[in-house]
Amino acid sequence: MDSFKKNLSRRAFAGSALAAGTFVATRGMAQNGPPALTPESPLGRFYPANRKGDDDFDMTKVGGGKEVASGEIIEIRGRIVDRNGQSIRRATVDIWQANAAGRYTHDNEQSTAPIDEDFQGFARLETNTFGDWNIKTIKPGVYETPKGLRAPHIHFEVTGFSHRLSAQLYFPDHAEQNAADPFYIALGDSAPASVARMVSPGQYRWDIVLMDERE
Ligand SMILES: [Fe+2]
Repeated sequence: MDSFKKNLSRRAFAGSALAAGTFVATRGMAQNGPPALTPESPLGRFYPANRKGDDDFDMTKVGGGKEVASGEIIEIRGRIVDRNGQSIRRATVDIWQANAAGRYTHDNEQSTAPIDEDFQGFARLETNTFGDWNIKTIKPGVYETPKGLRAPHIHFEVTGFSHRLSAQLYFPDHAEQNAADPFYIALGDSAPASVARMVSPGQYRWDIVLMDERE
């Protein structure tokens, strides 16, 4: 471990970062136990997405464009913590998804659904001091695969302190589609940890727990 990160890790045990991280660890999880890990899901065929020269947190616009992506605009925020519930600051978070019509902007894409030139499709973020991230995007559309219909979902690849996780977020207001999604089903008992929480209409929260630890 380099001295800079070691210093960061020590400081993370002090003050509000600890309190906030512990909150995540205990809410909705086994009492007195470690937080439930966010389940691993396949990276899929559509990473890295076409970045269109813009990978900021607002995926509803490309660059300084005035046009807005088609679809229902939503916001998602969350915190990334390690397996002890400690916030992971400066984690890298790659996010990519289909547009509202269920199409990725990617050379592997064979869908005939329309491309949305105003949809960014990909974001690369870094968590802040508290391990927090947030995006503004549109609700992804469903799409067909050889295995069956995919429920609306968003891909994440998180690089933490010592581990990397590929995961997929599902929406609580699409429970029926989730239950029929082959990738959701494959998660088994851990599937509910892949579902975001609706804070209010169009506002979601999803905390990610990595198999991460500091020395
Ligand atoms: Fe996907």
